Amino acid sequence: MATTSSSSFAAKRLEGKVALITGGASGIGECTARVFSHHGAKVIIADLQDELGFSVCNDIGSDTASFVHCDVTVEDDVKNAVNFAVSKYGKLDIMYNNAGVIDTPKPLIYNDKSDFDRVMNVIVTGTLLGTKHAARVMIPARSGSIIATGSVASSMGGVGTYAYTCAKHALVGLTKNAAVELGQFGVRVNCVSPYAVATKLAVGFTGVELEDEVFEKIMSSHANLKGPVLKAEDVALAVLYLASDESRYVSGHNLLVDGGFTVVNPSLLAFDPTTV
Ligand SMILES: NC(=O)c1ccc[n+]([C@@H]2O[C@H](COP(=O)([O-])OP(=O)(O)OC[C@H]3O[C@@H](n4cnc5c(N)ncnc54)[C@H](O)[C@@H]3O)[C@@H](O)[C@H]2O)c1
Repeated sequence: MATTSSSSFAAKRLEGKVALITGGASGIGECTARVFSHHGAKVIIADLQDELGFSVCNDIGSDTASFVHCDVTVEDDVKNAVNFAVSKYGKLDIMYNNAGVIDTPKPLIYNDKSDFDRVMNVIVTGTLLGTKHAARVMIPARSGSIIATGSVASSMGGVGTYAYTCAKHALVGLTKNAAVELGQFGVRVNCVSPYAVATKLAVGFTGVELEDEVFEKIMSSHANLKGPVLKAEDVALAVLYLASDESRYVSGHNLLVDGGFTVVNPSLLAFDPTTV
């Protein structure tokens, strides 16, 4: 992944910071790991996919990036990942709770409880555990930035499965609650909510594996903002902002990276102001 626009920034916006990224072996998390390391952070990738995770870290550079096996639904794994960051670098400045899964879309009456539980477990429980263990080490340090990956499905219906929509909505509540409690300790908690990005999770979402370009074409045709095609790097740059000191007074916020998709009122789209 080329860090095109971020590489043009002169300043290293995360110099001296230590970041842990769950789901960092692939997609948005991987791209964010690359952007963070480009901006001077030490990065720990925590993921289920060991081979991929190690290979991304090698590619970034073993002096700046490390991999730790972590299933975010297993509290000991999350605790261990946070402890790894602290024992290796002495602190944790940034926790990016990004790991996610999705189930295949089905009408409500055909939904399986096991699919629902699996998605809720990874997205909601995983983010709760990540937030909890990050807070454990950030509270005594009196600083830190915790970020979750939401979605446009965090704030609207009809764009994700039942499990995914419930889970992503829940992350906004979790973000708000944690921001309220942790503000007194100087710890900020925010959420980043993207529109569609061609990643492993997204391109296979319907059950049919689409080519990235085909997926992007379909999603761009439904997008509100025409012109740019949303890439993982656009999301990573929003996460970079929330991770950096540039956002030092931003907390409890859900930053939508959706080109205005969630604020469209479709009933007004047919309205042509030139005819009035
Ligand atoms: N791609 C999109 O269009 C889009 C849009 C909005 C939000 N998101 C969110 O972005 C996040 C990243 O997804 P992505 O699109 O980059 O997909 P991806 O499949 O490329 O990455 C997801 C990563 O999470 C890891 N993961 C899954 N379950 C895990 C677990 N139990 N423990 C640890 N790691 C686990 C996977 O191994 C993978 O590396 C997810 O939370 C997803 O819901 C994606």
